[in-house]
Amino acid sequence: MTVEPSLSRLGLDGRVAIVTGAASGIGKAAAEILAASGARVVACDIDADGVRATVAGFTGSGHRAEAIDIADIAACDALVQRTAKREGRLDILLNIAAVLRRLDVEEVDEAEWDRLMNVNLRSQYFLCRAAGEAMKPRCWGRIVNVSSGAGLVGGFFGATAYAVTKAGIMTLTKSFAKDLGPHGITVNTLSPGAIDTPMQRTGMTKETLEAARSRIPIGRMGLPAECARAAVFLASDLASYVTGHILAADGGFLMR
Ligand SMILES: NC(=O)c1ccc[n+]([C@@H]2O[C@H](COP(=O)([O-])OP(=O)(O)OC[C@H]3O[C@@H](n4cnc5c(N)ncnc54)[C@H](O)[C@@H]3O)[C@@H](O)[C@H]2O)c1
Repeated sequence: MTVEPSLSRLGLDGRVAIVTGAASGIGKAAAEILAASGARVVACDIDADGVRATVAGFTGSGHRAEAIDIADIAACDALVQRTAKREGRLDILLNIAAVLRRLDVEEVDEAEWDRLMNVNLRSQYFLCRAAGEAMKPRCWGRIVNVSSGAGLVGGFFGATAYAVTKAGIMTLTKSFAKDLGPHGITVNTLSPGAIDTPMQRTGMTKETLEAARSRIPIGRMGLPAECARAAVFLASDLASYVTGHILAADGGFLMR
């Protein structure tokens, strides 16, 4: 396919990428940018209709929609193996899917805790492991694990247990970066701030949204594409010497 000049420098043409959480928000925007950059995208989400709609919006061919629950580790392993076999390679994994319910500390029961850990954190560990194995034969790979500013500064607005999962992602990223670096595979964390998606608005009122906005030096929530571009940078040739890094796309939120 013809690649726009500004996107051709990213070196993504012909790359094979798995993107989780591709039915909505940041994952959908990242999948769209990768597809527009010439990558072949395997867009995954538990929302089967949503992820099919994402792929239907791509130009070019060779993309696929996969309905998958990332809490199911066997399904994650099978997805990576199926992709590597069908495409003959796997170059990029964007671990973006997650869940958030805003609950007071007393409201988080064991089932909720387990669900958050399994969807947000455990899935990323096993997808990193499976993707790393699939990338090793070509000695090239890019893994981007999406965390959150809450993982660095703690949860707010009822996101205490969620913040724990996001802190874990930063540590697992660094460990995989050390393990996979000698194989030509970089592993980085993207830490979004307040990005205007369905998740950001979950359980928020006009007042809490305004309180969140007022803490952002840039003075507004980010757009999904503004955050997704940072993930695509980490997945590109431009970031060849960046690994184990935490890149914040947050309008300066962490400075406050
Ligand atoms: N939006 C923000 O302000 C913000 C801030 C910090 C971090 N993040 C992180 O960015 C990432 C994307 O969030 P978003 O705001 O785009 O959210 P979103 O809710 O718009 O999208 C999340 C997607 O993940 C999918 N998903 C949920 N559970 C799944 C499962 N078990 N298996 C497969 N897919 C599943 C959902 O169906 C949805 O399409 C998340 O990791 C989130 O924690 C977002």
